[in-house]
Amino acid sequence: MVKCIGILTSGGDAPGMNAAIRAVTRTCLNNGIEIYGVRLGYKGLHDGEFIKFDSHSTRNIINIGGTFLKSARFPEFKDVKVREEAIEQMKKVGIEALVVIGGDGSYNGALKLTEMGVNCIGIPGTIDNDIPDTDFTVGFDTALNTIVDALDKLRDTSSSHQRCTILEVMGRRCGDLALYAGLACGAEMIITSETGFDEEEVIQTLKKSKAGDKKHAIVVITEHITDVHELAKRVETATGFETRANVLGHMQRGGRPSAQDRVLASRMGVHAVELLMEGKGGLCMSKVKGEIVGLPIEEVLSHKRQINEAIYEDVLTLR
Ligand code: ADP
Ligand code: F6P
Repeated sequence: MVKCIGILTSGGDAPGMNAAIRAVTRTCLNNGIEIYGVRLGYKGLHDGEFIKFDSHSTRNIINIGGTFLKSARFPEFKDVKVREEAIEQMKKVGIEALVVIGGDGSYNGALKLTEMGVNCIGIPGTIDNDIPDTDFTVGFDTALNTIVDALDKLRDTSSSHQRCTILEVMGRRCGDLALYAGLACGAEMIITSETGFDEEEVIQTLKKSKAGDKKHAIVVITEHITDVHELAKRVETATGFETRANVLGHMQRGGRPSAQDRVLASRMGVHAVELLMEGKGGLCMSKVKGEIVGLPIEEVLSHKRQINEAIYEDVLTLR
């Protein structure tokens, strides 16, 4: 059975990563397995930045945002020679297998390492919820609650001034943060790359809204779709709605992890180690209908994440 495991966090940080590190560490130690924390993602793996963990190492982190192991983007890891050098570093301290907490880029690295003989298990750590075949990723729920807080505040001022407020949220190419936050906050419109952006439709919807009883409006839009400040100017001219745009930015990535994220991260951490103990690799943890399961990374990465159509239908009904 595996005797020594490493754990790293990679890509964009996400609240709940620390809870996952804690769960992996405790599960290892409780099963007599040595555990090393790897600082700075794949960069630290390559540079041999290893910290031997004991039962004190992960105390008092379950409630802290970010990742205490630090994260990094390290494109050099795509190079097979760099990965071979990382494996040499792991051999020096005896790390035989890895738990990788990150998004789809990090999963690619984990898959390649597994193919090179180092069993890896992925845990989906990203606020974007953009990993296929899992209901939720670690960090999504906390980021969603941050956006909901921001939208509630924006609603106060938007309503006082009878304005239209446009809020741009993160998600890369995934509209889940915009979709769930828009539904939770009663937004007039949600614009995501999956549901499409039609400026004329936005203008017509807002005109209709202004002509009705409601004298303010909220629009939530995923990043990378359009320049929201320019959009606000055009909306104001076309609808007569005084309009302000806000970009929420990196504050969505920080903060105390929600209870949901801590539970998800902790459960995935336990099961990731159990899979490594069974000699498995190349799998990633997913939440499917409430169950935590291990699915092949290759299969998961070959799927396209779909927006939840049923939720979008409900948004349209409630408009
Ligand atoms: P995320 O994991 O959040 O999607 P990135 O896409 O930035 O974030 O990927 C994180 C890291 O994973 C990269 O900086 C790189 O070290 C590693 N990585 C990404 N793609 C690959 C790949 N095709 N092969 C090996 N490593 C990769
Ligand atoms: O993947 C998480 C994420 O926060 C995305 O939502 C966003 O597009 C990106 O990372 C921002 O990356 P960076 O931290 O490099 O600016």
